[in-house]
Amino acid sequence: MIRINENYTKLKASYLFADIAKRVGAYTAANPQSPAIRLGIGDVTEPLPPACIDALHAATDEMANRATFKGYGPEQGYGFLRELVAASDYAERGCRIEPDEVFISDGSKCDCGNIQEIFATDVRLAIPDPVYPVYVDTNVMAGRTGANVDGRYEGILYLDSTSRNGYVPAVPDAPADLIYLCFPNNPTGAVATRAQLEAWVAYARRNKAVILFDSAYESYIRDPGIPRSIYEIEGARDVAIEFRSFSKIAGFTGTRCAYTVVPKTLMAWDRAGNAHPLHALWNRRHTTKFNGVAYPIQRAAAAVYSAEGRSQTRALTDFYLGNARLIRDAMGKLGFACVGGDNAPYIWVNVGTDSWQFFDQMLSKAQVVVTPGSGFGKCGEGHVRISAFNSRENVEKALARIAAALA
Ligand SMILES: Cc1ncc(COP(=O)(O)O)c(C=O)c1O
Repeated sequence: MIRINENYTKLKASYLFADIAKRVGAYTAANPQSPAIRLGIGDVTEPLPPACIDALHAATDEMANRATFKGYGPEQGYGFLRELVAASDYAERGCRIEPDEVFISDGSKCDCGNIQEIFATDVRLAIPDPVYPVYVDTNVMAGRTGANVDGRYEGILYLDSTSRNGYVPAVPDAPADLIYLCFPNNPTGAVATRAQLEAWVAYARRNKAVILFDSAYESYIRDPGIPRSIYEIEGARDVAIEFRSFSKIAGFTGTRCAYTVVPKTLMAWDRAGNAHPLHALWNRRHTTKFNGVAYPIQRAAAAVYSAEGRSQTRALTDFYLGNARLIRDAMGKLGFACVGGDNAPYIWVNVGTDSWQFFDQMLSKAQVVVTPGSGFGKCGEGHVRISAFNSRENVEKALARIAAALA
């Protein structure tokens, strides 16, 4: 008799965005004359930068010509893109990352979800709360947790991010082996200072642990004092893997291109105490289960690093940050304490009431969709996430409606 992976039955039954879609669907069916503005899901709204479109067209033409046609490419990504990433995203910021330490993929969601496969099933996990749900759910699926009791899985050391610590968790007293960190953070929009990241790197080195550092939103950092990469911290090469994505840098959410950096100096140990480079394990995993990102998409991603690409993507992230500023100012004027929005496209609003209740109030009274914080974890209760990914017109309209609904 075929049996299921019973770890899947431990997963919380519903998915946050499915719940939101259900409520928004019911509202829209009952009120077809007043459509809701969605400041909930973190998907981009603006088209791809022209430099990327030009590269995409040119590469598509290459695929139409026998002399320049490409079949399977290297699973780890074409050299032209890996070299640009190493030179522009790392060397320019003083980080030593080699091109062959960069693994090109079709998304950070897959990478963040798949990376846990190369670690033992009994490693001790430390995961922030609130959190991007992929880190937790993929470990539940792999059997690294017990049951979900009162909204938390047994076997995870939760790192509370609350107003008390400015939504950036300090290193815990207890040891952990695999630590997930995400800065700028989804959902809170908080960023970690150099000193805070130094403390995490020191903790990981002390505990022979690995930090999985998700910096999908690094291109929104404007404060020059805030590190954009974990590798800006001395010693991080020996303890950290970093995930980045073109999704939010350049609007590639529907185009799909990202990368993961695994330094060759990063080790993990087998039961007998022998050290193994994680680079070799991830290379094995990636080449066995992944067959590379489409050539035209990698060319479009490479265009992000051209002079025009840089200025166009900067304009794109500036545009969303302009929305974020409007949202944060408006919610602040309404008396809510907020974080995020200055170095991140998300604003985390302390609404002081049940987050689903606030969601329902916004939907029914303002016709605006926000994301209930409790969907990201226990510590998200009492908060909502507002996303800056929308047109200026929609953001302004939504903020006027929120102000009127709360007046
Ligand atoms: C923190 C974080 N990591 C990763 C991703 C996924 O990015 P990608 O589109 O590259 O899969 C997201 C998407 O919203 C995210 O918020």
